Amino acid sequence: MTRWALRTATTSYQVRLALDGAWAELAYWGPAVEETLVPGPLEYAGPTPYSTAADVAACEYAPFGVRHFAQLDLIAEREGGVRGTLWRYSGDDLADKDGTTELRLRFADASQRLTATLCYRVSRDHDVVERWAEITNEADTPLRLERSRSAAFTMPTPGGARLHYLHGRWAQEFQTGQVELRHGRFTLENRLGVTGLAHSPWLAVQPLDEPDGPTWSTALAWSGSWAIDADADSAEGVTRVSLGRLPVESAIELAPGETFTSPPACGLYSPDGLAGAARAWHAYQRRLRRDVRLPVVYNSWFATEFRVRAEEQIELARKAAAIGVETFVVDDGWFVGRDDDRGGLGDWEPDPVKFPGGFDRFVAQVRELGLGFGLWVEPEGVSPRSRLYAEHPDWVYQVPGRPMTTIRNQYVLNLGRADAAAWAHAALDRLLSRYDISYLKWDMNRPMTERGAGADLDGRHVANYYAILEALRRDHPGVVVEGCAAGGGRADLATVARCDVLWPSDNTGPLDRLVVQHGFLQAFAPHLMSSWVTDDPGFFATSPRSRDFRYVTAMAGVLGIGADISAWDQERLDEAARWIGLYRSVRDVVQLGEVHRHGDPRGPFYAVEYTRDDTVVLLSWRTGHARGSATHVSRPPRVRPRGVDPAARYRRRDDDSRHSGAALAAAGLAPLPDDTTDASVVILDRV
Ligand code: DGJ
Repeated sequence: MTRWALRTATTSYQVRLALDGAWAELAYWGPAVEETLVPGPLEYAGPTPYSTAADVAACEYAPFGVRHFAQLDLIAEREGGVRGTLWRYSGDDLADKDGTTELRLRFADASQRLTATLCYRVSRDHDVVERWAEITNEADTPLRLERSRSAAFTMPTPGGARLHYLHGRWAQEFQTGQVELRHGRFTLENRLGVTGLAHSPWLAVQPLDEPDGPTWSTALAWSGSWAIDADADSAEGVTRVSLGRLPVESAIELAPGETFTSPPACGLYSPDGLAGAARAWHAYQRRLRRDVRLPVVYNSWFATEFRVRAEEQIELARKAAAIGVETFVVDDGWFVGRDDDRGGLGDWEPDPVKFPGGFDRFVAQVRELGLGFGLWVEPEGVSPRSRLYAEHPDWVYQVPGRPMTTIRNQYVLNLGRADAAAWAHAALDRLLSRYDISYLKWDMNRPMTERGAGADLDGRHVANYYAILEALRRDHPGVVVEGCAAGGGRADLATVARCDVLWPSDNTGPLDRLVVQHGFLQAFAPHLMSSWVTDDPGFFATSPRSRDFRYVTAMAGVLGIGADISAWDQERLDEAARWIGLYRSVRDVVQLGEVHRHGDPRGPFYAVEYTRDDTVVLLSWRTGHARGSATHVSRPPRVRPRGVDPAARYRRRDDDSRHSGAALAAAGLAPLPDDTTDASVVILDRV
C-alpha cells in the first residue's frame, strides 16, 4: 500500500509515497472526502530547475540527504561517517481501535544504519492529527541528531500565507499577532527550557487570498525548548510548517540501539477561520481532560503574598466559604524559610512559625468550613538559602567554575537527574499523602541558564516533569492540578494532557486580562482558563472598570477569587456570593461549551458566547468608559448568538422574556442596553 487516507471527525488527511519510496508526501488535508484525491491539491506540475523533486514536494518529514536545500526536519550525523540520511520506505502498520487510527510509516537508511518511523494518530472524535517521529540508531557507534523535529505540515497557500501566532511576556501573555508571508521563513523559537511566556508553541496558517476562510493550525506538545518554522513560497503555492524540540545545549546523541521519540506535533484544519480552529482545538482538549469538577477557588496570593499567617488565612477561608468558594488555596509563602522570594524553595515543610497550631490543625479548620484545601508548590525552584541546596548543591543546573545566574533569586533544580526527580516526586507525594489536599498549583518561575553539558538535558528534565505529574495523578486522582509558570509560561498540549487547569497570567487588571483571555481562548479551551476576581485597582491598575466587569471576566473560564476579602464588607460579600452562585449554575456550559467570540477586546465591545446542550451563556463587556448619562443618541451593541437553534424558542433567565432562535440568530440581542453598564451575563435556555 502506498497511499493512506486518515479520517478525523470532519476532515481527511491523505498521505502517499513518492515513487522511489524516498519520502512520504501530503496529498490532501481538508474537509472530509471519501475518495483518494489523484492528483491532490499539493502536487506540482512542471520541471524543478536548479532543485530536486524532494525539495519541492510536500514532504511529510524531510531528512537532510533526501532533501538538500529546502526546509529540513532531520539532520543526522554519525561520528566519522556520513552527514545526512538517504532512507527508503520499508513498510507500514495501520491499526484501528475504538475509533482511533494509528498509522506508522517505516523508513530505513542501510548505509547510515538509521531507521525511522513516522507516526500518525487520528480519531473520529475530534479533528486533530497527532504526529511524531521515532528515530533509531541501528549501528554500534553513536548517532548525533542535530535536528529532529516532530513533523511538518504543508498547506496550500497560492498567493502567500497569513500566519497567526501568540506572543507575550510576563503579565502580557497570549497577545495575538499576525504576519503576511509570501516568501521566506517565519520562526518562533523558545530556548527557555520551559514552554515560555514569549511565544506559545502554536501557529495558524491561512491562504492570503481567502481572508479568514480555510485555516490550518498546528501546535507542539512539548514543555521545554522548541521551534516552529513556517516556510512560504507563493510561487510554489505552499507553506510548510516544521515543529519540534530545539536542542539548545547540545545535539541529541543516540547510543547504539537507542530510539529518539519526538513529542507529538498536532495539526488541524477548519473551514471556519480562526474561530473554527479555536473550536476544533477546544474539542480536542476536552478529550484530553479528566472528568473532574473544577472548583471555585479562593487563592491567597494577591491578598497576603509571602505574609502567610494561619489566623489570617482562616479568616479569609471563613469568608470564602460564606460566599460560595469551594476550595481554599494557600499560594506561595507557607513553607519554611519563605518570607520573601529569597528563601525556602526546596524545603517543602510547613513553617511552624506561620502555623503555630500545626499545619494539620490548619488544614482541618479549612476542611471543617466545607472547603477543599490547596497548596502552591514550585518543585523545580531552589533557593540558594535552602536546606536542599546546602545538602545537594550539585542538584541545580550549573557550569562548574562559572558564576550561577539567579532569576527571582533562585536556581533551577536539575529535574533530569534521577535522584533529584525522585526527591521532587517524593516531596510532593508526601505532601499530598500527609495532608488533606485536593488542589495543587505547580508553578515554575524562572527559565534555565548554565545547564552545562550532557546528553539531552532538556529532554530528561521535561520527561521527568511529565512522569511526576503522571505519578501524582495516578496516586492522588482526587487532586486537581493547576499548571503555572510565572503566569501562562507552561501552556502547551503536553501540560494540558497532565494538568486540569492553567493559570494564564498574573495580570488580573480587567482590560488587560480580557485581552489575555481572548488570545488564550484562540488556542486553549475555557475549562483550562483559571481566572480570579482581584481587588481594584490591584497590582495592574489599568483603566477603572466596574466590579461586574471583573466578575464577568473571571466567569469566562474557571472562576476564582483572589482579592483580600478580609477587608470586604457584607455588601461586597453578598455581591460576590451572587456572582459565584450565578457562575456555579452555568459553569458546565462555560467550561465545556462551544465557544464563539464576538469582536475583539481591543475594540469598544466584546462578547464570548458558550453553548452546551440547551443553554447559551453570553458574557459581554464594554471596554470603553461607561458614561452614565445619555447625552447623544446611541444604539447599543448587538450580538447575534451563533449557538442558537433557529427552530427552537428560548427563555432569557434574567428577565423571563421569550425569543425565537430565528429572531435571535437574525437580529441578535443587546446584552448591554444602556451605557451605564460595562459587563453583563445573558443566559438563554431552550424552552
Ligand atoms: C507566579 C504565579 O503566577 C503567581 O500566581 C504566584 O503563584 C507567584 N508565582 C508566587 O510566587
